[in-house]
This record gives sequence, C-alpha cells and structure tokens, in this order.
Amino acid sequence: MVSARDTELRELTADERASYFRAMQGLWGGGLAEEAFVAFQCRLASSPEAAGRYRMFGLFRRGEGDLLSGVKAYDLAGAFEGAPLRILGIGAVFTAPGLRGRGYAAGMLAAALARFGDEGADAALLFSDIGAEYYRRLGFHGLESAECFAEAHQLPRSNGYRTAVAGDEERMCRLFERARGREHLSLSRDGWTLRFQLRRLRELSRARNLGEPEWGVMVEGASGEAAAMVRLSREAVDVLDAAWTSDGARERLLGGLRDLLARAGRPRLRLWPASQLRGRYAESPRSGAIAMIAPLRAAVALPAADEPAEFSLLDHI
Ligand SMILES: CC(C)(COP(=O)(O)OP(=O)(O)OC[C@H]1O[C@@H](n2cnc3c(N)ncnc32)[C@H](O)[C@@H]1OP(=O)(O)O)[C@@H](O)C(=O)NCCC(=O)NCCS
Repeated sequence: MVSARDTELRELTADERASYFRAMQGLWGGGLAEEAFVAFQCRLASSPEAAGRYRMFGLFRRGEGDLLSGVKAYDLAGAFEGAPLRILGIGAVFTAPGLRGRGYAAGMLAAALARFGDEGADAALLFSDIGAEYYRRLGFHGLESAECFAEAHQLPRSNGYRTAVAGDEERMCRLFERARGREHLSLSRDGWTLRFQLRRLRELSRARNLGEPEWGVMVEGASGEAAAMVRLSREAVDVLDAAWTSDGARERLLGGLRDLLARAGRPRLRLWPASQLRGRYAESPRSGAIAMIAPLRAAVALPAADEPAEFSLLDHI
C-alpha cells in the first residue's frame, strides 16, 4: 500500500497531461481515435477558458516521474443556504490498469482534498460513475441524483425561436443565473461554466472534423426570453441548462428543442431536474454521475446525504 510520506501530489506538465489523456482514451474517448482524443483534451486544457480553473494533478512517488494516478481539478463557485462556497470539482480520476488496487487513487484524492482545503476550498464535489461506496470511504456523501427524459411528443410545436450563435453566451448566462434555484446547493452561473463547456463542445467538434457545433436555442421578444444550452449525445439531445422568463417563451423554447430532436435524429431530450427544469418531466434515479460532496473544513454547511441539489447537466464535469 502507498504511504503519504513516499508520494507527492503535483500539477501535471504538458507531456504528463498528454500521457494521462492517452491512457484514458479507451474508456472515455467517445469514439475518437487516440491521437484525436489526446489533441482535443490537450487543446482544451491549454485553452484560455481553462486558465486557472481547470487543471490536472497526479500522484507521483517522491522524486520520480512515473504517474501513479491522475485527476482533473476544477475551481468552482457555489452557494448553499445563502452562503457562498468555493468548491473543488473533481473529475476523471484515473489509474492505469496495471497500477490499480494499490491505493494510488485514494492517496491522490486524500492529498488533493488536503491541499485544496488548505488553499481555501470549502467542499469537494464529484460525479461518480463507480457507485458511491468508494468515495464514501474518502469522506464524500451522495446527494439526490436524478435524470429526466422528454420524447418529442411531450414537447409543444412552435416557432419563434432561433439557434444560438457566438455572442449569445452572456444573455444565455443571465437567464440561467436568474432562474438558478437558491433553495438547494448550486453552482454559480458566473459565465465561466458556460464558456468552458462551449469551448469543450467546439474542441470536440473540431476533433471530429465537424464545423461549429449546434449548442443552443434562443427565444427573444417583448413577451419573454428563453434559452437552452444543448449538446448532442449518442442517444439524446442533452439539455445542459435552460431558463425562461414567461410561459410563452418557454413553449417556444421547447418547440425549438422539439425541432432540434428531429433535425439531429435523436428520439428524446435528456436533462437533470434543476432550476426551472425541475418538476416538468418524470424523474428517475441516475445510474451514473452520482453527485457526491465532501466538506473540506469543519464548520461548513452542506446538504445532508441524499438531499436534493440544484445541478444541471451543465455542471457535470
Ligand atoms: C477507480 C480507479 C480510479 C481506482 O484507482 P486505484 O488506484 O486502483 O484506486 P484504489 O487502489 O485507491 O482503490 C481501489 C478500489 O477502487 C474501487 N473501484 C475501482 N473500480 C471500481 C468500480 N468500477 N466500481 C466500484 N468500485 C471500484 C474498489 O473498491 C477497489 O478496491 P479493490 O481493488 O479491492 O476492488 C481505477 O479503477 C480507474 O482508473 N478506473 C477507470 C476510471 C474510472 O472509472 N474512474 C472513476 C470515475 S468516477
């Protein structure tokens, strides 16, 4: 088993990042060939949007260069019960197959929690694809994690919307921020998450040799505004977030999403129930991406186990 004395956590160099991405391609490559996946991840990691807020760390044996386990760390802002929170977002925890089962990931996560806690983070957040037990042992607890699907026939027919274009980011963000639920734990809509996710979609589209991705629907006019940020996944149109200022604007937005389903050849919308999307469609528990949180200081107020949180798919890191 690994001892904290023999290992150190440090930020990955550009070369180390490339090998970390290369190692995970088989699992998270999303159909991209190895080189295209590595190039996509490296471009995203060195994009202006990533600067200071999206970093990669690894566990190393002290003084040695072989990566034992790697992780993505996001600097996020959130709030719970009116108190602002600095949140360490954790993603893509990965140990190469030949190194598994020796406590490297656990050692790395413990070191990351200690380091970011010392640097002022109040809590750590992750979305687990390996159940809750492993992360529970590291001090995390699960929050309510549900998803919803909406088939085309559940959506109204309408027009009066348009596709989102470059320059819509700020307006979209203002709508999301205005609609953000304050009752539960939520991440802030300060613009960064949206801009980062958009960069991600654009880099992914470039890696697939496609043009500008279709990333949103907008509704404008005197009778109300609405916006949705979307991405195409294999079997659905994912609604990353959506918001509206009137019922009429909402119906036009949903009509736009219905048309997008037809255009993209996807049978349904997939979304996480949060903000104004909560309560509109039947919810079922998510099998993957279980939201889990850990306090990084003693007195921090966080939702208790299984309580609801206000995460939309946009927050899925
Ligand atoms: C999960 C992972 C990072 C663990 O790395 P590691 O360095 O072996 O971690 P540790 O030695 O600290 O812990 C090993 C334990 O992880 C847990 N674990 C690993 N994979 C798991 C899975 N798919 N489901 C549930 N638990 C799992 C087990 O409890 C395992 O203990 P075991 O070896 O006695 O079965 C590694 O298996 C991996 O890279 N998997 C593929 C990527 C992945 O799924 N990452 C997690 C995303 S949320």
